[in-house]
Amino acid sequence: VAQPGRAAPVLSFVRNFWGGAARPIERMNQITVNTPSNPYVVLVGRGLLRKAGAALATLRDYSGVFVLSSARVWKHWGRAVEASLKDAGPLRRILFDDAERAKTLATYEKVCRQLVREGADRRALLLAVGGGVVGDVAGFVAATYLRGVRLVHVPTTLMAQVDSAIGGKTGVNLREGKNLIGAFYQPRLVLADPQTLGTLPVREFRAGLYEVIKYGILGDAELFGYLEENLADILKQTPQHLDWMITRCVEAKAGIVGKDETESGLREVLNLGHTFAHALETATGYRTYRHGEAVGWGLLAAARLAAHLKMLPAEDCARILALVRRVGALPAWPRSKPEALMQIMRSDKKARGGRVRFVLPKAIASVETGVEASDETVREVLRQMAAGRGAS
Ligand code: NAD
Ligand code: GLY
Repeated sequence: VAQPGRAAPVLSFVRNFWGGAARPIERMNQITVNTPSNPYVVLVGRGLLRKAGAALATLRDYSGVFVLSSARVWKHWGRAVEASLKDAGPLRRILFDDAERAKTLATYEKVCRQLVREGADRRALLLAVGGGVVGDVAGFVAATYLRGVRLVHVPTTLMAQVDSAIGGKTGVNLREGKNLIGAFYQPRLVLADPQTLGTLPVREFRAGLYEVIKYGILGDAELFGYLEENLADILKQTPQHLDWMITRCVEAKAGIVGKDETESGLREVLNLGHTFAHALETATGYRTYRHGEAVGWGLLAAARLAAHLKMLPAEDCARILALVRRVGALPAWPRSKPEALMQIMRSDKKARGGRVRFVLPKAIASVETGVEASDETVREVLRQMAAGRGAS
């Protein structure tokens, strides 16, 4: 059941800052995510981080703000967050390791225990400031701590701004597989400030771009063409390109999760490339690839497999391979045997009864979900990837 009233205070924040504020935000895009469990707004705007306190004030009735972040992110943005929240009531800060290999139940437990020690009660508001790892862990904490407390995301990586902060997937990895423990839990608000990407290492920015390409392949031919045309400027982080691209992806994700919050159908399209990606990350102990880089390999493998199954015209396959390759060099394909990767894929969340189900492209801007392929076909594609023929 939709609860549109919930978004109203945030909209008044948008109106107030549009006009008379001392340092107004020049351009702000506002996208509503109409999930049945909790509709909310994603704001995309340069300078939004400085307004976080005012935005939180619209959520009212919280007993205290508990910022969950990492030392790496805090070093760059901590002072700005603190300054912005100076009027938002008592603020507590919990920093944890945001390395992918630390996205574990142990980290989750540490954060929960610290919340208890800091006195977080049921009206606590958790503010997740960071990339996808911070967001996924903080989200799972918010979903489960005292059976659920309020959550606001301030995503600071491209990956988190275009994808992970939106849609309510939260969770942690097991050694056996990625994101195998988690919950769907929607935030109350998402504040995406593209200025925060200014301190992001280039490798992390590129990693996020693979996820942007994913949106183009799965349903947005205009975005795909835009990336082909403007990639050089996008890699320079030209604001006008970046802001347009982020907003476009947020709109796409909001549209999809608004129709299928818990992935009972449509939302599966967002997993394009992820069956391969999660296998690569798991096989390498979450140490070799940035998640986005694994998705980059996953897109190449998905295109290869689709072409192999004669689902994808050669011309579209070539465009996908070329665009992914132009983003930059990916860390080498792992040494793992095809059978080892296939074994991991069989315990992927999307698998049913041990049968792997792929999301594969049929054209630029069109995908098919639930595709099964014979072991021999998948093995052959994995062999091609390992032989370095993935992107050629
Ligand atoms: P990340 O969270 O690992 O962050 C990348 C690195 O950048 C980290 O070292 C971090 O400290 C640093 N960093 C973050 N913001 C920074 C900034 N502004 N300036 C300087 N350094 C900064 O990586 P990511 O790509 O954001 O997220 C990947 C994670 O997100 C994976 O665990 C993936 O599974 C998850 N994810 C989840 C969803 C979802 O729907 N929940 C979707 C996509 C990805
Ligand atoms: N990142 C995939 C999803 O949110 O469904």
